Amino acid sequence: MKTFTIFAAAVLGVTAMPADLKTQDTSACPYYLPEGSYEFPHLIVPINNSGVAIGHSYFADVSPGDCATIFNFDIPPSRANQQCSVYFTFPRHDQLVTSDYKWNGNNTSTEGPGTLEFVQHAYGTGATDATTGNTQPPLGADALVTVSNAQPGNAYKVWSGSCGGGGVMSWKLSSPDSYLYYFQDWNPCAIGLWVVYETAALAQAPTCGSCPSTKQFASHAAWMEAYTGGALAAGAGVQM
Ligand SMILES: *[C@@H]1O[C@H](CO)[C@@H](O)[C@H](O)[C@H]1NC(C)=O
Ligand SMILES: *[C@@H]1O[C@H](CO)[C@@H](O)[C@H](O)[C@H]1NC(C)=O
Ligand SMILES: *[C@@H]1O[C@H](CO)[C@@H](O)[C@H](O)[C@H]1NC(C)=O
Repeated sequence: MKTFTIFAAAVLGVTAMPADLKTQDTSACPYYLPEGSYEFPHLIVPINNSGVAIGHSYFADVSPGDCATIFNFDIPPSRANQQCSVYFTFPRHDQLVTSDYKWNGNNTSTEGPGTLEFVQHAYGTGATDATTGNTQPPLGADALVTVSNAQPGNAYKVWSGSCGGGGVMSWKLSSPDSYLYYFQDWNPCAIGLWVVYETAALAQAPTCGSCPSTKQFASHAAWMEAYTGGALAAGAGVQM
């Protein structure tokens, strides 16, 4: 169980880590997901400019004007009409323990700049395994949100609004000018797209002392095996 060896090393401290593990600095993440008050995507579907379905993945894949990724969040009825915010969290490489990403931008030393575009699909619609670039779910009423010059080490609040009546809230991430490929992961530092229940989040504003460091891999366990086997380095998305 390579997976848990790595996790235990992170808890015990740097001296316990095998020499080949990267430096891990999760003491100051760009953003801390509020325990019990957020949603991670239950379905991640990369698409490209074709009628070919890529299907679901643990990885988001973005390339200039071609690959994009749709994230489906399931908002439970108990959260109906609460205030939701969407965050994109983008740690530096050295702030990640269990994830990694490729971010080319224009190949500057800061791995950027990059323009990231976020748009919400019509509430209650979303991607399926069969979704392609030609069969994207309809867009919602809100305008596209553009983050210019996105840089690792930051978290971006993309949107705020009603959580809706309960059902699928779906977002698309794309870029006109940059490449991004990452494993969506809630382990600190969290990387990816999240829906946060804002009222509760404010009540539980996390400090470093309450970092969610005891999170286990849960449904990500299968991915960990593939990941530690070098899947990301090989540049191939891993299908669930
Ligand atoms: C889109 O993705 C499919 C499946 O991975 C691939 O076969 C196809 O070549 C891609 N098309 C483009 C235009 O990138
Ligand atoms: C690369 O990034 C720099 C710094 O933000 C920017 O000034 C420049 O226009 C970018 N170049 C390209 C080709 O996008
Ligand atoms: C990006 O920069 C690195 C380091 O300077 C260089 O080795 C690499 O070839 C560059 N890649 C591209 C696509 O320009």
